[in-house]
Amino acid sequence: MEVKTSLLDNMIGVGDMVLLEPLSEESFLENLKNRFDHNEIYTYIGSVVISMNPYRSLPIYTPDKVEEYRNRNFYELSPHIYALADEAYRSLRDQDKDQCILITGESGAGKTEASKLVMSYVAAVCGKGQEVNKVKEQLLQSNPVLEAFGNAKTVRNDNSSRFGKYMDIEFDFKGDPLGGVISNYLLEKSRVVKQPRGERNFHIFYQLLSGASDDTLKKLKLDRDFSKYNYLSLDSAVVNGLDDAASFRTVRNAMQIVGFMEDEMQSVLQLVAAVLKLGNIEFKPESRNNSTDESRIKDKNDLKEMCELLGIEQSVLERAFSYRTVEAKLEKVSTTLNVSQAYYARDALAKNLYSRLFSWLVTRINESIKAQTKARHKVMGVLDIYGFEIFEDNSFEQFIINYCNEKLQQIFIELTLREEQEEYIREGIEWTNIEYFNNAIICDLIENNQNGILAMLDEECLRPGTVTDETFLDKLNTICAEHQHFESRLSKNSKFLNDHSLPHNCFRIQHYAGKVLYRSEGFVDKNNDLLYRDLSQAMYKATHSLIKELFPEGNPAKVNLKRPPTAGSQFKASVGTLMRNLQTKNPNYIRCIKPNDKKAAHVFTESLVCHQVRYLGLMENVRVRRAGYAFRQPYEPCLERYKMLCKRTWPHWRGPAREGVETLMVDLPIPTDEVSYGRSKIFIRNPRTLFFLEERRRQCLQDLATLIQKIYRGWKCRTHFLLLKKSQIVVSAWYRRFAQQKKYQKIKSSTTVVQSYIRGWQARKLLRELKYQKRCKEAVTTIAAYWHGTQARMELRRLKQEARNKRAVTVIWAYWQGTKARRELRRLKEEARRKHAVAVIWAYWQGLKVRREYRKFFRANAGKKIYDFTIQRIMQKYFLGLKNNMPPMSPIDKNWPARPYRFLDGVHKELQRIFHLWRCKKYRSKFTEEKKAVYEEKLEASKLFKDKKALYPSSVSKPFKGDYLEIRKNPKYQKLNSAVEEKVLLADVVNKINRANSKGTARIFLLTKKNVVLADQKTGQVKASVPLLDLASVSVSTKNDGFFALKLKAGSASATKGDFLLSSDHLIEIITKLHRSGATAADREQINIDISDEFLVQFKHDKVCVKFIQVAPKNGNSVSCKRKNNRLLEVLVPTTA
Ligand SMILES: Nc1ncnc2c1ncn2[C@@H]1O[C@H](COP(=O)(O)OP(=O)(O)OP(=O)(O)O)[C@@H](O)[C@H]1O
Ligand SMILES: [Mg+2]
Repeated sequence: MEVKTSLLDNMIGVGDMVLLEPLSEESFLENLKNRFDHNEIYTYIGSVVISMNPYRSLPIYTPDKVEEYRNRNFYELSPHIYALADEAYRSLRDQDKDQCILITGESGAGKTEASKLVMSYVAAVCGKGQEVNKVKEQLLQSNPVLEAFGNAKTVRNDNSSRFGKYMDIEFDFKGDPLGGVISNYLLEKSRVVKQPRGERNFHIFYQLLSGASDDTLKKLKLDRDFSKYNYLSLDSAVVNGLDDAASFRTVRNAMQIVGFMEDEMQSVLQLVAAVLKLGNIEFKPESRNNSTDESRIKDKNDLKEMCELLGIEQSVLERAFSYRTVEAKLEKVSTTLNVSQAYYARDALAKNLYSRLFSWLVTRINESIKAQTKARHKVMGVLDIYGFEIFEDNSFEQFIINYCNEKLQQIFIELTLREEQEEYIREGIEWTNIEYFNNAIICDLIENNQNGILAMLDEECLRPGTVTDETFLDKLNTICAEHQHFESRLSKNSKFLNDHSLPHNCFRIQHYAGKVLYRSEGFVDKNNDLLYRDLSQAMYKATHSLIKELFPEGNPAKVNLKRPPTAGSQFKASVGTLMRNLQTKNPNYIRCIKPNDKKAAHVFTESLVCHQVRYLGLMENVRVRRAGYAFRQPYEPCLERYKMLCKRTWPHWRGPAREGVETLMVDLPIPTDEVSYGRSKIFIRNPRTLFFLEERRRQCLQDLATLIQKIYRGWKCRTHFLLLKKSQIVVSAWYRRFAQQKKYQKIKSSTTVVQSYIRGWQARKLLRELKYQKRCKEAVTTIAAYWHGTQARMELRRLKQEARNKRAVTVIWAYWQGTKARRELRRLKEEARRKHAVAVIWAYWQGLKVRREYRKFFRANAGKKIYDFTIQRIMQKYFLGLKNNMPPMSPIDKNWPARPYRFLDGVHKELQRIFHLWRCKKYRSKFTEEKKAVYEEKLEASKLFKDKKALYPSSVSKPFKGDYLEIRKNPKYQKLNSAVEEKVLLADVVNKINRANSKGTARIFLLTKKNVVLADQKTGQVKASVPLLDLASVSVSTKNDGFFALKLKAGSASATKGDFLLSSDHLIEIITKLHRSGATAADREQINIDISDEFLVQFKHDKVCVKFIQVAPKNGNSVSCKRKNNRLLEVLVPTTA
């Protein structure tokens, strides 16, 4: 269950000043001090947060704290700025109300810090996501950039905002930030050229010089030494606790996050550098003829560098510092500037340059952070404007700043009162008027359009003639003399005639926050804010794009002779817009208080705080808040908090909360006029009543605590007792069980023993009985068995006897049958023999009878004739059969019919042979002459090589083609063809074996009737032509190779070149044809064919032995030739499978 807490829990002093009792300035301060001493820097006045600057970092802004305050009601936890931020954010998100957070307080009171805390809280609790986080980061990072350019160290604050800032953060309907818009108000630009003692120029100058790299400084033509720049005061150049170099890096990083481009950053820094350079330009007088002084630039180096930085022509700027052109309608008058005018022009330019740069920065940031969607959005405005200032020397800037604070105070009063009033009306409570100081009269003194100070200043500035600050003061003295908040020594108000604290050139205004003495000097000038047109035109002529953009009025095409609005009227208008804007929003106030002037922690200067409490009107604020009713609270939390004070509402009230509260109040001794019942809230008139309720609650809580304690203790003891009792029962139950178990075990074991004895005895008895019965049964069985055995044996014997008898009968029967059968067989055999004998005898007898009978009819040689006839018949039959069964005519067919009679054996074989010869003849007779020649060649080959050379069988099936090269037809061999005239018997490609390396060279081998011709294979050129007459013999091996040697007759013409060792695939054909050519020629002998595995070949010079060796096949079946030495060539012939 969530624990409901309240602001009223563990309070240090009172968390809400409204509850202060008694209410007085002392008690107010006392309460603030008490809380401040206990590190409670935040205190409420109703919904307004008072924030005391702790001047040290407190651990109260951690993420845990953010979570603690997230989605909690305003009064639920102790006062914190987060509670206000949460309340504002939730009513923006959930109730769709635009919010504004007004942070006021004097310089150094912590307004800027407070605004950053609010922004960071809202950033932490609103939606998340890549896009949303980017927007948040850009919004947060705009702060360091603006602070660098717009904040400076003052005597009151090391990081004092020198401009007013109002930032609208825009949210979508879910409460996610979409973007923002920043408005800036009047930068204190006089600081650029001059700073009061103990103060610094704007931070960026120091940050740039300390933090920029040497390279950057060189580019910007700057020196790191502050003392080199007239515009930088030296007495506070280094501020304790401020690291300018680190801040510079932070600023650059923030600019990057916000979306500045690198060149934009560079341009901005160039402008900053230009301002510093500008400050160093000094002038000297130069006398003119007409005895006037004209200013001249002393040392032009800085001017030159500045012009280089901004891209301005040096002479243009130099002239602008020496002359001033006044244009009036059609006239243009140029006057020279004296030294002080030149300095004035220089400073005016520097101030304008810087303040315009600042405004440009704000516009540029706005461009980056503006919401990307046009969808309707809710707005939370955060106003951090310069605080109320009272310096020793107050000028136009302080006047403007304090005017702004005056307006804010007014809006505070108006809105607080209005809100209070509206709440009373809303709740139906009667409104009682209260007295408070309304500063409208001071605002009127300043801003009244007719006789307000600003209006008069404008009037003076616009008036023709000599206008000085004195004439302006005179005017004030006449017009405002009667005003009760205006004081001046020279006014007609005699009261101040002798007031020496009021110098003659000053006027004093009684602001709501105190009296401020303003020196009138510079008012007219600052209000005019004049920049000579020559200067703005010179700036416009610059090539630097940013500087050109900053001085649009310098454009000669747009010369505007109208005076620009004065600084005062501009400021008044923008403050007016701001006020109107704030009035449309739901205000949330943070009133910042500065505890001391030393910027020190733990120091509470009562007088200083008292002064701020007074001028901030905080007491009035409390009074307004308490007007009528000091405290109010919705019914539900009120009932929840105090319901224990009444028996009827405790512990639960079932009805509506309002009735519950009424019941509660009636039950308590509280006068009826002390409380009032609104529509949703109870209003308590006096804080005393609230404290009474709180006290009663405290007591009641104590009583309740005692009661709870009592009940708890009772419950605890009883629970303990019940536990003990339960344990005792358990223990005794266990013990009883155990005892009974033990007894039972004993009885059980005794019983078991007795039982076992009895059972043993019974069993033995039974056993005996059973044994007896068993023995009887066995005896009976044995007897029966014996008897059955006897019976069975007897039966067996009988059966055996019977079987024996039966077998004997069978055997005897079989024997008898056998005997009978054998006898019958013998008889049948005898009978058959007799029958055969009878038949034979009968045949013989019949034959004899026939022979005897026919003898007389036959001649003596008839037998031979019959025999011949029979033989003839047989032969006839044989031949006819042979004729019908003739085998096919193929000579290779081996079939021949079988012989019918053995005596025909010889005839049959002879007939077969004859038939075969005849068949072959018939076959041969079909041959043509060519085919015949082919067969003759084949026959010759068979004669020559059959069974002599292993190559022969493979040649049988291949026909002898003769002209393998088609020498006559092929045009390739035309040359060869013409060289050989005779008929070519054989043309083939052979290998001529080279003796030197035993390698073969392809040659065409031609065989004609008379010659052997060897020719080049490619060209057809005849290499050798050997007449067959010169050929002695041809040598070949017995092996399966194609090598052959053509041996020439010794002494013949061809023999000079030596024998030829050749190899050919058609060896058998070549040799056969060679041999045959010899046979057919009449003029020469037949060529010898030597078949031997070793023969001699007569090469040109030597005889070489060619030896053929049978080898196992290796790398294929090719025959290889190797030269062993000069005398021996080995031909390796692989064995074919
Ligand atoms: N809540 C805080 N916790 C710690 N230090 C704080 C807190 N608020 C303010 N300070 C300190 O006080 C200094 C001045 O605060 P801040 O700059 O916010 O004042 P300011 O009201 O904005 O003044 P000015 O009107 O001059 O701009 C801060 O620099 C910081 O050191
Ligand atoms: Mg500030």
